[in-house]
Amino acid sequence: MVVELSTERTVTEALFMTFQLAGEGPKIYEEVMVPLWFGRWAEALIDQLSLRSSERVLDVACGTGVTTRLTKTKVGPGGKVDGLDINAPMLAQAKELAGDLDIAWIESDVCDIDLPSESYDVILSQHGYHYFPDKPQALREFLRLLAPGGRLGFSIWDGHSPYTSAICAAVEHHISSEIARKQRSQRETPSANELKSQMSAQGFSDVVVYRQELMIDVPPASEFVPLHLRSMPIAAAFTELPEDAQNALINEVAESLADYVQGNRLVYPDAVHVAIGFK
Ligand SMILES: C[S@@+](CC[C@H](N)C(=O)[O-])C[C@H]1O[C@@H](n2cnc3c(N)ncnc32)[C@H](O)[C@@H]1O
Repeated sequence: MVVELSTERTVTEALFMTFQLAGEGPKIYEEVMVPLWFGRWAEALIDQLSLRSSERVLDVACGTGVTTRLTKTKVGPGGKVDGLDINAPMLAQAKELAGDLDIAWIESDVCDIDLPSESYDVILSQHGYHYFPDKPQALREFLRLLAPGGRLGFSIWDGHSPYTSAICAAVEHHISSEIARKQRSQRETPSANELKSQMSAQGFSDVVVYRQELMIDVPPASEFVPLHLRSMPIAAAFTELPEDAQNALINEVAESLADYVQGNRLVYPDAVHVAIGFK
């Protein structure tokens, strides 16, 4: 199923907390954040799912499609891969990047997916679950969409990294507490035990949740911080700051992360929880 993507869509405050990007956000997200962060986590997640050729896979909250494209290379031409997201600009970017890859892009809220039951062997999602407004309902939708024996695998942040703690503190000091609260919420995720019980409560079996850590390697704060913030839902609050306030924010992050400087790079640990369960 391929849906028409609406190019203009009002991104309201109500959608703010669900990682809604607009303007240049999806482009910077793909060009900067995907290679440095999300592409690396995508490979780690997909390795855990042992995808087989010819499987039917749905990537939920696919964003600009980094996990979707990687999945397509794993299941091959005989497999079917669909990417689903609520955000039209993210899907437009995903569609453009996928080029000739045979992937269908579906604009939908995860809690109410207009697709037939038992359509997929695997449902995966990277850094989406904690944004879902009704998690039990999303999990029930996944169970409905999975074929018997099918598997769900998703990853979400395990709290803050040294970098995200530093950026939230600097946003608090140089923008506002309200904007810092919104930025911190990007990393407010259920614990491993909560994930396990949420999945088991909806009927997933053999649920496992484990922690996966990577060393993240990004350019120095002076280069990375402005790009990172411009790819976030709080982008406007940063770009509207006077230049001296932007520089003060960036300098505070650089000073907080002095222990993580290696040559001309920032290298720090970050971690996700990976949850896997079966229908
Ligand atoms: C941090 S991005 C992750 C994107 C992608 N999975 C990746 O790893 O690059 C979170 C994504 O969740 C999507 N999202 C949030 N709430 C959603 C919902 N209720 N239904 C579908 N997608 C949703 C957002 O639009 C956004 O693209």
